[in-house]
Amino acid sequence: MRTHRCGELRKVHVGQEVKLGGWVHRRRDLGGLVFVDLRDRDGIAQVAFGPDAPEVLAVAASLTPETVVSVRGLVAARPVGQANPEMPTGEIEVRATAVEVLGPAATPAIPVARGKGEELAAEELRLRHRHLDLRRPELFRNLELRHRLLQRARAELAALGFLEIETPILTKPTPEGARDYLVPSRVHPGEFYALPQSPQIYKQLLMVAGFDRYFQIARCFRDEDLRADRQPEFTQIDVEASFIGVEDVYAVTEAVLVALWREAGHEVTAPFPRMPYRDAMERYGSDKPDLRIGLEIRDITGLIGPESGEFLRAAAQRGERVRAIVAPGGAALSRKDFDQLTEDAKTMRAAGLLWAKRSPDGVTGPGAKALGPTMASALGLADGEAVLGCVGADAVVLPALGRVRLELARRLKLPPATRHAFVWIEQFPMFERDPETGVLVPMHHPFTAPHPDDRAFLASDPERVRSMHYDPVYNGVELGSGSIRIVDPALQQQVFDRLGLTPEEVQQRFGFLLEGLRAGAPPHGGIALGFDRIAMLLAGAESLRDVIAFPKTTAARALFEGAPVPARKEDLDVLRLGVAK
Ligand code: AMO
Repeated sequence: MRTHRCGELRKVHVGQEVKLGGWVHRRRDLGGLVFVDLRDRDGIAQVAFGPDAPEVLAVAASLTPETVVSVRGLVAARPVGQANPEMPTGEIEVRATAVEVLGPAATPAIPVARGKGEELAAEELRLRHRHLDLRRPELFRNLELRHRLLQRARAELAALGFLEIETPILTKPTPEGARDYLVPSRVHPGEFYALPQSPQIYKQLLMVAGFDRYFQIARCFRDEDLRADRQPEFTQIDVEASFIGVEDVYAVTEAVLVALWREAGHEVTAPFPRMPYRDAMERYGSDKPDLRIGLEIRDITGLIGPESGEFLRAAAQRGERVRAIVAPGGAALSRKDFDQLTEDAKTMRAAGLLWAKRSPDGVTGPGAKALGPTMASALGLADGEAVLGCVGADAVVLPALGRVRLELARRLKLPPATRHAFVWIEQFPMFERDPETGVLVPMHHPFTAPHPDDRAFLASDPERVRSMHYDPVYNGVELGSGSIRIVDPALQQQVFDRLGLTPEEVQQRFGFLLEGLRAGAPPHGGIALGFDRIAMLLAGAESLRDVIAFPKTTAARALFEGAPVPARKEDLDVLRLGVAK
């Protein structure tokens, strides 16, 4: 029904007869002349309706926004002075000889055509009317980029010998640390499938089977608290390989990431730098440090002297560390800025934020006295700099300063040192304590192999054990996660023991994996990249919702289709389920 897409017409088409199909974006009526901006997925073409064909002109004059029409006409150069340099098709127009309404449109609930600088409708409203919102050029662009990235990832992995294999959606709970979405079984009343939080166990079983190199563009489901960078269902580029080590996983991941960045028009180089988890925490207060920013955290405990404040000396005696950031230009921050930064530190459970700044009058600010003159000079504070510090347990102080660091960079508008800062964070602790219960839990999942140098501490000092886990991080965003896995069933059992799982629990939850490991398992490992996050970053979008066609809200609702909904009584009866009041 079409010879061209609206957005592809250029000067070279002048003189050609074309047939277009699209949506009425805007209509301007100038008496005997009507201009319609006709829009499709590629862009907009101006269609001119003149008095030569009065019946065609009459139809054009009655067209309402978002009506779907078919137009036939002749491509002509726009008259001198009427070209629009802001439109890719701005040098031409289509002089219509015929028009047909194919799909009349109700008055759109949200405007699709927006004037320059005109705000978008509220997001709730846009998600409710997503079919209209999706007509925005930015969303076409984002989803088109997403498509290209997917094709690129597939091509890259297939070229490296990885097989794309699909794993079940109706499955058994997978331990990725979130809650499962459960699906009741009708055939087996009272029993439930879980939607996969990841294909983790299946991909390991594929290695046991000998598939050697697997990948999947895998949909994952996690019932967790949502944020702009989390969706309850999301997509991973999931990868696993056998007879490999960390270096192989890094090389494959870097090849995929470099290819994806190139697809989006960015040349980035591999190998990426690497940083142990402990360094990332101590220097940047985060396991996903944004290395575009300087502002490293320093341990200034050693500078505490007799003139330092009492509470600093007491803290040092208790074995706590004092950590601080020296901020160039920080002296220009206002009292209000420092108050806000203090609040930021407090939301991360820090007791407070010690700060002082250096100006030609000397070191001033509420922290100046506590630091004392010797400490202030040992710090080497230059004119115009500020120091912001915290004292207390590392587990609190480092993340708090990590947050202050990012906020400082934002408030100081520090120019990024580089545009693309990739880094591998490695040597994560194998276990951590649940902050609420104090119970030992895996930092990632229980199949991660311990670092060979630390295996001996598994029994004696599990919190000291580092794992073979790694995360690729980009500009402060965790792009993915992976590890070398445990293949020795005895070691796997030892880890389950450390986690306090009873043999019955282990058998019930992971029996099928253990059975696999006992059947001859090759050394293997892998990674999962968060594909939505990658698409969001490469599209320059602020939210995952801008790169997902039909996303959920942060309240885990699908506003467009209206889900979730209460189940009908007869459906619940078949499943032998009821809803507790
Ligand atoms: P992990 O749980 O770290 O590892 O997930 C891997 C990556 O998936 C992305 N991601 C999410 N993206 C959007 N919304 C979410 N709710 C969400 N949760 C996670 C992140 C994250 O880095 N099976 C392991 C991988 C492995 O060991 O091979 C796993 O799933 O970018």
